Amino acid sequence: MKKRYLIGNLKMNLNSIAETEQYLVSLKKEIFGKRIDGVEVIVAPSSTYLERFSRELPEPVLLGAQDVFWEKEGSYTGQVSASMLHDLHTGFVIVGHSERRLYAHENDAEVGWKVRAALHENLHPIVCVGETSEEHDQGEAADVVSRQIVEAFRDVPPLLAERVLVAYEPRWAIGTDTTPESEEIFEMRIVIHRALAEAYDPAIADKIPVLYGGSVKASLLDRVCFEPRMDGVLVGRESLYPHELVRMVNLLGEHESLEREPIQEQV
Ligand code: PGA
Repeated sequence: MKKRYLIGNLKMNLNSIAETEQYLVSLKKEIFGKRIDGVEVIVAPSSTYLERFSRELPEPVLLGAQDVFWEKEGSYTGQVSASMLHDLHTGFVIVGHSERRLYAHENDAEVGWKVRAALHENLHPIVCVGETSEEHDQGEAADVVSRQIVEAFRDVPPLLAERVLVAYEPRWAIGTDTTPESEEIFEMRIVIHRALAEAYDPAIADKIPVLYGGSVKASLLDRVCFEPRMDGVLVGRESLYPHELVRMVNLLGEHESLEREPIQEQV
């Protein structure tokens, strides 16, 4: 049975050791004794606190990072390498988040380099794709997202492609409390599947989890995850509240029992 994923992207929050400790204690308390079968839960703190999270994150929550650099080592001030992340037991890394594309001017080619660097160290890259509001309004979303997928997976061999996760995050939905309709998300789910099926084959495309991200909260899971048949969610602000995060994990787990047909049958 296919797993569902919840990725908590803490962004540049928990701005002190004290806040970080408080978060970890509260997450431990909330998750204790809960059955979360079938749901992979990943929390991605800022790189400064990765080591602390790596030591104190309660099982079975896994560790993620928010970014990685494409080079192995050297004179790259401010960057973090994939092997540094691997060393801290980081299993997942977000790549190409729209805030990095916006503030650090990351382009599609760089996102592809980062995916390959992460795979080289056995990390699971979580590739973020999504259109801006102008692209959305001009009906360019499918083209933009297909291009982002092609560039992110360029030169990634089929066996490694199966280690990658994709998060569809329309930029206009991030941090805004606006979310697309389920039908729109499902359409983009198909666009992503098609781009992957063309790059590899439908069977491989079926194995690559596709999540939704952008203003996700528990009360919206039907609309943004279950109805559009996504494999999980990437959560920003709401993941700062362990109680809400665990609530979402429980809801995802309850729905896990429902069998999901492969997307390819619908394409
Ligand atoms: P948000 O962020 O949930 O706060 O909108 C989502 C994201 O950045 O992935």
